Formats: sequence, C-alpha cells, structure tokens
Amino acid sequence: MRTLLIAGNWKMNAGPTEAKELAESMVAAREGKDDSQDLLICPPFISIPAVAEAFSGSNFKVGAQNVSTEDNGAYTGEISTSMLKDAGCEYVIVGHSERREYYHEDDSLVAEKALKVLKDGLKVIVCVGEKLEERKSGNHEKVVKNQVEAVIKQVDKSNADNFVIAYEPVWAIGTGETATPEQAQEMHAFIRGLLSEVWGDDEAEKIRILYGGSMKPGNADELLSQKDVDGGLIGGASLKADSFSGIIDIAESI
Ligand code: 13P
Repeated sequence: MRTLLIAGNWKMNAGPTEAKELAESMVAAREGKDDSQDLLICPPFISIPAVAEAFSGSNFKVGAQNVSTEDNGAYTGEISTSMLKDAGCEYVIVGHSERREYYHEDDSLVAEKALKVLKDGLKVIVCVGEKLEERKSGNHEKVVKNQVEAVIKQVDKSNADNFVIAYEPVWAIGTGETATPEQAQEMHAFIRGLLSEVWGDDEAEKIRILYGGSMKPGNADELLSQKDVDGGLIGGASLKADSFSGIIDIAESI
C-alpha cells in the first residue's frame, strides 16, 4: 500500500510570526502520536525558514507553493530550487489552479517547472483539475488528461518515487463543495490509467495521487478510504492545527 501524503497548502496566509506559531501548534497536536503517514506543509516562501525550524525533529516536512525554472540571476521576484533546498524544503507544488488562472501558467510552463524540481533533487506535486463548466459539459477527463500528459510525457519514469499528482477540481477549491468519494475515485483511477499508459503499471502503482478541494475532518474519511486516493492537498483546513491534525488522525486510522 502507498504511504499517504497529508499536505497543507497555506497559500498566501501566515507570515513568519503567525507561521511559526501555527507550525508549533501542529507539532504539539501530534505529540506522542507516532505518525506513519507523510506530513507536509507548504507555507508562503517568506515563512519557510520559520516553519522548517519549528518542524525540526518532528515528522512534518516543508515544501514550497511555486518555483522558478531558472537557477539564479536577474529574475526579479523569483525563487530558485537551490534556495528552497537551502531553506529546508523537500517538496514543491507546481501548476496549482490559482497559478494557472491568475498568473497564466500553462501546461508547458508547469511541465518545465516539474522537470526543474525533479532534476534538482526535490519532490514535485503537480496539480491538475477541471473547472465547473468543463465538468458540466462532460469534458473533465479530457481536460485532466491533457494536463497530466503534458507533464508525464516529458518526465522519465525513473522519477516516479519523487512524483506526486494532486487532483483538485477547481469547483471544489475553497467553496465548501467537495467532490463525492465516487467522483474522486473515478478521476484518480483515470489518472492512474494515464500514468500506466506512459510509465507502465509498476511505476503507476507507486505514484501518490492526492485529492484537494474542501477536504476537512468531516469528509476526509470517505475520500481517503478510496482505493486510488493517496492523501490530501488541503487549503483552508490546514490553517488550523486542530482540523489538520484531525485529518491526520483519519489518515493514520486507514
Ligand atoms: P481548500 O482545501 O481550501 O478547498 O483548498 C484546496 C487547495 O487548493 C489546496 O491546494
């Protein structure tokens, strides 16, 4: 069985002071629990060092929400993979729907970022997911297929251990509306099928496919119990130690 990954995406919330307190309260909430699933928080860039320090010696890992495709130099406002590693990051999220929507990141840039992250020895979480109109018009599988294939056709299958996909239906992000467990399982199985076609069954079986979109303690059990749901990428509910810890409790019980 795949180890679940319970990941928090703090988005543009929690500067260094607040992030430190929140990270410390998460560590405190897991004290004495002996967690066996993988736990990750992706704070804003500026809060990464504070969170990394608060997590040292704990089971929590730190990740970033975005990265540059460049190594260094005259790229105002950008952050490189080497900077993230230096700050203690192990994972990088790429292609989040908010970056696709508000910062015009397209499939080819998402693929380029994923390749850069893997080449430089970090783990990548590639986000995919359809918009409401795309689901309503029955195009959700086609949209997700294009997003997934744009990346996996460029990545060598030897990267499978460092490769995570997050299925985040855009209509479920921050809306309180969650995909049903059946909708999630159906899409996750579809994505695993795509992985299998390009990388083969053995590699496809290793890849963790996270669900994201209004996951909270009240619905995590039915989502995480699905065969092809290998964890969560959690926004709002990762901003409170008790709700994030509640989801971890559920993951640990599965
Ligand atoms: P919410 O959990 O707030 O819906 O956000 C999901 C998400 O976008 C995580 O990346």
